[in-house]
Order: sequence, then C-alpha cells, then structure tokens
Amino acid sequence: MVPEVDRNLFREVSYGIYLVSSFDGNRKNGQIVNTVIQVTSDPPCFAVIINQKNFTHELISSSKRFGVSVLKDSTPFPFIGLFGFKSGRDVNKFENVGHIEGASGCPLVTDHSLGVMEINVTHTLDVVTHTVFVGEVVFSKTLDDGRPLTYEYYHVFLKGKTSKNAPTYNKET
Ligand SMILES: Cc1cc2nc3c(=O)[nH]c(=O)nc-3n(C[C@H](O)[C@H](O)[C@H](O)COP(=O)(O)O)c2cc1C
Repeated sequence: MVPEVDRNLFREVSYGIYLVSSFDGNRKNGQIVNTVIQVTSDPPCFAVIINQKNFTHELISSSKRFGVSVLKDSTPFPFIGLFGFKSGRDVNKFENVGHIEGASGCPLVTDHSLGVMEINVTHTLDVVTHTVFVGEVVFSKTLDDGRPLTYEYYHVFLKGKTSKNAPTYNKET
C-alpha cells in the first residue's frame, strides 16, 4: 500500500514552545523545542524529542538529565534565534543567560520563563533521526505569571520559522 500523506494536516497539530537544557562537566547548553509533553501523573514524567545531531542530544545522553523552561509569549525573537537556530558546538549560549542549577548541576534557564523543571531520564526511544527522552520530574518551580508561548503564536504573531532539526520541519512552508 502506498502511503497517502497530506503534510498540511500536520500543521494543525498544536504544541507549546520550550527551552530544554542539559550539561556535561563544565559545558552547559540548551535548545528550543516544541515537543515537551507530560507522559504520566504519578510519578510525574515528561518526554522531549531531540534530533540526534544536536549538541543538546549529546549532553542529555551522557548526563541523563534535562531541564525544561516554559517560555512566556513575550520571549524576544533573538532569544529564540540563539537557542533554536544556533548550535552550542559553535557558540556559548549560556554566556549572558540567567539560570539556576538543579540538584544534579543541570542548568535551568530562568530568563523569559514561567517556570522550570529538572528531569531525570528513565527511558529513551531511538526513532531514526530523533530520540524520545522520558524522565521523572525531580524539581519544579513556578517563577512568574503570564501566558505560555504556543507554537501557533510563534508562527502567526512572531512570524517565526521552524528549524530543519525540529521533528515538525516541513521544507515547503
Ligand atoms: C520553533 C522551533 C521548534 C523546534 N523544535 C525542536 C524539537 O522539538 N526537537 C529538536 O531536536 N529540535 C527542535 N528545534 C531545533 C533546535 O532548537 C535547533 O536545532 C538547535 O540549534 C539545536 O541546538 P544545539 O545543537 O545547541 O543542541 C526547534 C527549533 C525551533 C525554532
């Protein structure tokens, strides 16, 4: 059977936009994702989907920890540009970015964030180009009031594009 795939429909699937961070020794890094989702309530577990080429993938794979910052809809575009279109292999993204450290030392970005969580990886799933990392929340804290940045708001109001390393990348849009 030949698959009949209408990729336009994929754009109607809703997401939020988050910053996922990790570390290894003295190196700290983070990237923008639209793929954070809660998997279970008890224990509280979240998943994220990361491209295997990304520096953040290397760091989560070795540290088995990641941070999630729930971004505000007022997050400035240059901040998203730094974390969503540049690689930590080329630039130090943490040079001027406010963050705290979780108990493990994992950096948790506080700038433009409604709150942060630290996650201890318990499961991984290799899916061709990307890995699904699932883990338990070991720390979370609300930092501010406001509205979370959604994928729709990013595209419609900020006129943002999606990076080619994102799972939702579509070269025709
Ligand atoms: C709106 C948006 C959503 C993105 N979503 C994801 C995602 O869910 N997973 C992913 O691996 N990359 C995603 N990316 C791409 C990464 O943020 C990008 O490849 C980043 O430069 C990787 O940085 P690193 O090499 O320092 O880890 C997204 C980018 C943007 C702008």
